[in-house]
Amino acid sequence: MPADPTPPTVAPWGRDRAEALADLLERSLPGEGFTAEELESVLWDDPGVVLGTTDPAGPVAAGGATVRRFGDTVVGYVKLVVVDPDHRRAGLGRAVLSALEAWCRAEGATEVHLAGTAPVYLWPGIDVAAMTPALCLAEALGYEPRTCEFNMVLPSTVRVPTPPGVALRRILDDADDDAMRALVTRHWPWWLDEYDRALESGTAIGAFVDPPPGAGPEPLGFVCHSVSHLGLLGPMGTDPDRQGGGVGGALVAEVAKDMMAAGVSEVEVCWVGPVAFYAKLGATVHRVFRTYRKRFPSSEGAR
Ligand SMILES: CC(C)(COP(=O)(O)OP(=O)(O)OC[C@H]1O[C@@H](n2cnc3c(N)ncnc32)[C@H](O)[C@@H]1OP(=O)(O)O)[C@@H](O)C(=O)NCCC(=O)NCCS
Repeated sequence: MPADPTPPTVAPWGRDRAEALADLLERSLPGEGFTAEELESVLWDDPGVVLGTTDPAGPVAAGGATVRRFGDTVVGYVKLVVVDPDHRRAGLGRAVLSALEAWCRAEGATEVHLAGTAPVYLWPGIDVAAMTPALCLAEALGYEPRTCEFNMVLPSTVRVPTPPGVALRRILDDADDDAMRALVTRHWPWWLDEYDRALESGTAIGAFVDPPPGAGPEPLGFVCHSVSHLGLLGPMGTDPDRQGGGVGGALVAEVAKDMMAAGVSEVEVCWVGPVAFYAKLGATVHRVFRTYRKRFPSSEGAR
């Protein structure tokens, strides 16, 4: 479609647009399958901004961003930019991304990243095989490539024996939660947000010493799944003192059982850390993502 000489305007979208955004995303990236509820959770529940086109263009382009604060440093993160396939190459992607950057700058960000908005994100980065136009848009707007991240996949038929003396169970009661929360806080505090969201939706599973000693549950490891999107595994961790004993594999198999019960044929391990651990269970690299960053000139960063 030829470029419109009038720059498109974008305005904030409220969560009442979640359904329209889910439709737009499915038209734009068929098969990603994010539900309106999942988009609400990632884009509106996590404070930030969602911007998109309104009348007369209608909901044909949108995006979302947030900022994360690390001490005095404020970093902007763009979680999504999406344009209807029938309205591409008309400047809408540029308009949405530029407006999200401006919002991040106004929040005090000195740089902005594309995707990878841990702990609340849609993708770890830009999918190099499925999102070619987004790679082009990033380049056109001056983003520099940073890292390569990936997801692995394994069939939901995978089964692993539970090691002797280990009990696996969904984390539902306060005693199990208290014990597991202490383990997560001690070793992986950056995963607490995802742990909490999994707990709320019943998708946090724990490994405990079996039978529990009189003092209460003794946690060995945990796994969460479907935190931002059905079928995604992560985060997970085994107590460093108990690693190498089969706890992690048994936890992955519990997720596979949940997936099978939900009618999902594969488990997608999101934003993989230890490749060999998942490869030994039969997982292979599935999607590869590139992350990007753009630093703002220092005079534009601070408010
Ligand atoms: C990426 C996307 C948002 C771009 O939207 P768009 O409205 O077509 O982008 P624009 O028209 O503003 O393009 C701006 C510039 O980006 C580059 N660009 C965008 N798409 C391109 C393509 N298919 N090929 C080459 N360059 C491209 C060009 O430099 C373009 O400027 P130009 O048209 O003057 O040459 C759109 O293709 C899309 O919705 N893709 C699916 C969603 C997605 O993958 N999002 C990433 C996950 S966050």
